[in-house]
Amino acid sequence: MNPLREGLSQERVPEPHVMVIFGASGDLTKRKLLPALYSLTRERLLPANFAVMGVARQDYTVEKFRENMREGCHRYARRRPVEDSVWAEFGRCIFYLPAEFDDLEAFKTLKTRLEEIDGQFGIPANRLFYFSTPPSVFPLIVENLGKVGLVSRQHQPWSRIIVEKPFGHDLQSAQTLNRQLKQVFRETQIYRIDHYLGKETVQNMLTFRFANGLFEPIWNQYHIHHVQITSAESLGMEGRGAYFEEAGILRDMVQNHLYQLLCLVGMEPPVSLDSSAIRDEKVKFLRSLRPIPADQFDKYVVRGQYGAGQVMGESVPGYRQEPGVNPDSTTETYVALRLMVDNWRWGNVPFFVRAAKRMPKKVTDISIKFRNAPYALFGQNQGASEVANVLTIRIQPDEGIILHFGSKVPGPSMDVAPVNMEFRYGTSFGKEPPEAYERLILDAMLGDSTLFIRDDETEVSWKFITGVHQMWAEQNLRKIPEHPAGTWGPREAEALPATRASEWRKP
Ligand code: BG6
Repeated sequence: MNPLREGLSQERVPEPHVMVIFGASGDLTKRKLLPALYSLTRERLLPANFAVMGVARQDYTVEKFRENMREGCHRYARRRPVEDSVWAEFGRCIFYLPAEFDDLEAFKTLKTRLEEIDGQFGIPANRLFYFSTPPSVFPLIVENLGKVGLVSRQHQPWSRIIVEKPFGHDLQSAQTLNRQLKQVFRETQIYRIDHYLGKETVQNMLTFRFANGLFEPIWNQYHIHHVQITSAESLGMEGRGAYFEEAGILRDMVQNHLYQLLCLVGMEPPVSLDSSAIRDEKVKFLRSLRPIPADQFDKYVVRGQYGAGQVMGESVPGYRQEPGVNPDSTTETYVALRLMVDNWRWGNVPFFVRAAKRMPKKVTDISIKFRNAPYALFGQNQGASEVANVLTIRIQPDEGIILHFGSKVPGPSMDVAPVNMEFRYGTSFGKEPPEAYERLILDAMLGDSTLFIRDDETEVSWKFITGVHQMWAEQNLRKIPEHPAGTWGPREAEALPATRASEWRKP
């Protein structure tokens, strides 16, 4: 018995299996997946009989691949530098096979190699496939896996598949992809990943709302004035210009990550923590989003693009000057939406959602603005939001929850000033949270799909987003509003909240 495997953690440990990563020579494998597996090994959360098989076009040897992965762990793992004793155990479980995804013979070879590894490590043919390739080749890989008999639809041995985003490009392509995957896998075997659901702060939304009796009674239209969700990034394209040209921020961030945040703020309490119960509520919430009215489209959706500017003291080029971007591009790098939810809890409460690249700083947060006191006894609330009651859930960075309220200023008069009550993860728990990918990969290994996206969830969110894209296509603009990089977005977005009480908060 290897000493690292002794005294495995008391947490649930997955059954023995081989994880097969398609697209293993890409950035994601090196930056996120292998560092996550390394950390799980370190924390003794992986089974004793476990192996990783990387598959990609590049002609690496196993040794070269292991060396690359070690370097990846060295640079990106949560705890650095890599510990030799952990690597000695983990590194020897890593394998590599060069393969073209349209080559059926290569899949036959893969099957043989996996059977050899099963024999070597005592693994009962359980497989976790990870699709980290461009989405265009997902169907090909699925088909070939099916053809060579690498997928078990039984409970023992099991096969599961984790699919990276983007999951489709619009409603139709998402439906097609769902159909293609389900020709070989059952829905319960498909784990559509959204790394936001692996973030501790995002999971804490469920705990915060449903483990406390304090907030839920006021979590509705009687007490909440509006909700704002902001995802601002200071980075620009970072070499992803060609991808972003096709995607835009609405597909890249809103359809997936921000919709997940929206669901967790707005959904009804699930009847249990079971994956179906939670996902049923998310789908129900998404179904209640009101379609954007075509005749008032500009009052509900604003898009923009960053021009040249200054971000954190550095001059940066505009979006249209980024490599891989069309110089006449109308792809949005900023989007703001006013969303209305047609259900009993949220009638008439606007949800303002915005996402953008090249903002002044990186911050993701959710602000719940409560209604003002019915009468301004202290003359408070004359200005917009000086003493507004706002609950801010900081997703990242400085993870925490802050309640803003008004307090008496010490002294002889009855002046009111805004103050905060704060909870910060950093100081409250003397424990380092796992990386999003660690949690999500471990859940898939354990067969827990709660934090993954179900087929109907992808389709209902795409339906809404595709509606916005269709309206943009009809507008057929040659140019969209521009704002200098390093500012909080185009002027047009300021008008979206419509009233002073709901104006955008500066995170
Ligand atoms: C990815 C997007 O899904 O999420 C990127 O493709 C974005 O464009 C990233 O930068 C943001 O993730 P995080 O965890 O840094 O907020």
